[in-house]
Amino acid sequence: MFGKSRKTNLYIHIEQNFSLHNHRDKSMINNIIFNFDSTLIKTEGVELILQRALQRLDPKERSGRLEELGKISCLADIGETSVAEALHQCFGLTGVNRGDVEAVAAGIMEEVNPRVIESIQALQEAGKRIFILSTGFDELVRPVTRALHVDDDHVFTNQLIYDFRGEVVGFNERNPLFLSAGKGFLVEQLKNDGRLPGGTTVVGRSASDLAIRKNNVAQLFVYYLNTRIHEEIRRQADFVIERFDQLLPLFFSEEEFSNERMQVYYQQNGAVEEEVKPNVLLLENIHDAAVQQMKRAGLEPRLLKSALSIDELCSDAADVHVLGIRSQTRVTARAIACMENLMVIGAFCIGTNQVDLEAAAAAGIPVFNAPYSNTRSVAELVVGEIIMLMRRIPEKSQAAHASQWLKSAAGCTEIRGKTVGIIGYGHIGSQVSVLLESLGMTVCFHDIVDKLPLGNAQRAASLEELLGRSDVVTLHVPDTPITRNLIGAAQIAHMKQGAFLINLSRGRVVELAALRAALDAGALGGAAVDVFPEEPNHSQEPFLSPLQGARNTILTPHIGGSTQEAQIDIAAYVGEKMLRFIHTGATTGAVNFPEVELARVPNTHRILHVHHNVPGVLAKINNLFARRSINIAGQLLQTRERIGYLIIDVDQQVSTQVLDLMGHIAETIRVRKIA
Ligand code: NAI
Repeated sequence: MFGKSRKTNLYIHIEQNFSLHNHRDKSMINNIIFNFDSTLIKTEGVELILQRALQRLDPKERSGRLEELGKISCLADIGETSVAEALHQCFGLTGVNRGDVEAVAAGIMEEVNPRVIESIQALQEAGKRIFILSTGFDELVRPVTRALHVDDDHVFTNQLIYDFRGEVVGFNERNPLFLSAGKGFLVEQLKNDGRLPGGTTVVGRSASDLAIRKNNVAQLFVYYLNTRIHEEIRRQADFVIERFDQLLPLFFSEEEFSNERMQVYYQQNGAVEEEVKPNVLLLENIHDAAVQQMKRAGLEPRLLKSALSIDELCSDAADVHVLGIRSQTRVTARAIACMENLMVIGAFCIGTNQVDLEAAAAAGIPVFNAPYSNTRSVAELVVGEIIMLMRRIPEKSQAAHASQWLKSAAGCTEIRGKTVGIIGYGHIGSQVSVLLESLGMTVCFHDIVDKLPLGNAQRAASLEELLGRSDVVTLHVPDTPITRNLIGAAQIAHMKQGAFLINLSRGRVVELAALRAALDAGALGGAAVDVFPEEPNHSQEPFLSPLQGARNTILTPHIGGSTQEAQIDIAAYVGEKMLRFIHTGATTGAVNFPEVELARVPNTHRILHVHHNVPGVLAKINNLFARRSINIAGQLLQTRERIGYLIIDVDQQVSTQVLDLMGHIAETIRVRKIA
């Protein structure tokens, strides 16, 4: 079951000691204080007035003033400057008159945010006392509050002072709303006067709104998410909403939720648990094994042979839930932001450099790849190349192509009884170890991590010791600052006269000029190299290397892992990981995500919750469940860097409302329910 995910991410944060989730608590909230600008209306009233006043200036002067205005925060709503100071500067630069103010006031109802009127009406019907506290001006606020039937004496605003010509010359600076924490003081005064009986909630988006809760006059601060997001303030909110009707579940009990009004609420919003079959898009000719696997799982993947550009992902893949790529499709932060429904990315290849892993994790999207699907293919090629080099096949084959008959056993040996030195005893190195030992080689290895020797393999005391005793040295290390030029002239000097070097790991691990010099001088008997510091991007680009023409040397175009079996394994491995995530939420093997896998308890329903990794989220969720007597049958939380991932199994069908409320938790990134 797929939530509309990020699009309908509804954010609610449940305070530990003040729950709104039982009827008694809900009814305790009597008073709701709304901010006006960028909350009840879409924008800042002051900005509308300033824009109107600027229209009266000639274009040149207007652009100069606009530049000046750009340097000042006319809104001062982050709490850095006092409101009065900012307004003085801005009005001084534009020259506002009564006509400007009246013109804006005449159109102010058009600016009211969607669903404000219905939502406030519903709250009033439920007996809530509505207050409006605005640092904006009376002329703009009153037409709206009257349309909302809010008592005039519940509305607090700023007043403009005009001169006899109708020019604005100042503000009522004795009004506490002019101070940066003025709203907090005013609400405290209302409380002391007995005008705020019971609990109080503030709905707004600025530092001055938050200050009301900070002063402990209000119990809750609900952040209204509009286009300008003050992250610092949002983080401190108890609840975050992006539509006004999202306020309703905060103040209505579960029983009331079943009434007609709430049904309308869910119809309008699209409940979080809306079931849709995921859209699957597989790009870059992903192997048929993955396609068949998805089809068997009941999915209908859309297939494209080519990669898509970022713009194409934004336009053609915007509705995709499940995306499969190979190495050519770049999935950047912008692409991730465009694909609002995206829930999982499968990189059907070894590396994941083409994906912005951090952006994906931040959006709650795990990325899977197949790091070990070609391990065996690489190991087999190493075995083959050791035999080829020790029998001097490259030079004999080259001679035969050039009509020369080099039929001689000189310098040609079996591999049996010889010593191979493996540098990097990881997935590939250890496979090579097992295969070569079975062919009769003595294996020694060197790794910076303490690795268990397989079979009779021996751990070398040092890199130098390994180099000094090996007939062939094979490299299987990653590309890191420590492995860069790991093998240069000094290390080659430690190697046995006539020994062989194999590099199928990464191009920068071997200093090629030093290797060439050793091959030319006969210090080494041959080499096999598959990876290079600079590799062509495609087959039309020429390939140049100092090793070209070197004796008894095999050069291959980075095909160590390129086999049909590896392709099939990649398809099956990544496809399986994606399906497991879709069906169970398992993230084992994800490269960017907390790894969680929880066995299903029979007769339970599963909820997946991705959140920002900050203290207390689990407690909030468990509180929410406990208050509704929902039993948690199984639960597993893992965190990784900034992301927390929680799987919960509950032993009853959770209501849409619970999912909705989980989605509203301020730290929530996404919620998904699996049937
Ligand atoms: P792995 O991560 O499983 O193993 C790497 C091992 O190297 C680890 O045990 C690590 O501790 C060790 N290591 C790291 N730094 C070291 C150092 N300075 N000295 C000694 N040991 C060190 O990696 P895996 O899967 O075995 O791959 C090895 C290499 O092969 C990687 O560079 C990978 O990119 C490359 N590769 C190349 C392919 C090709 O087509 N030619 C295909 C697949 C992998």
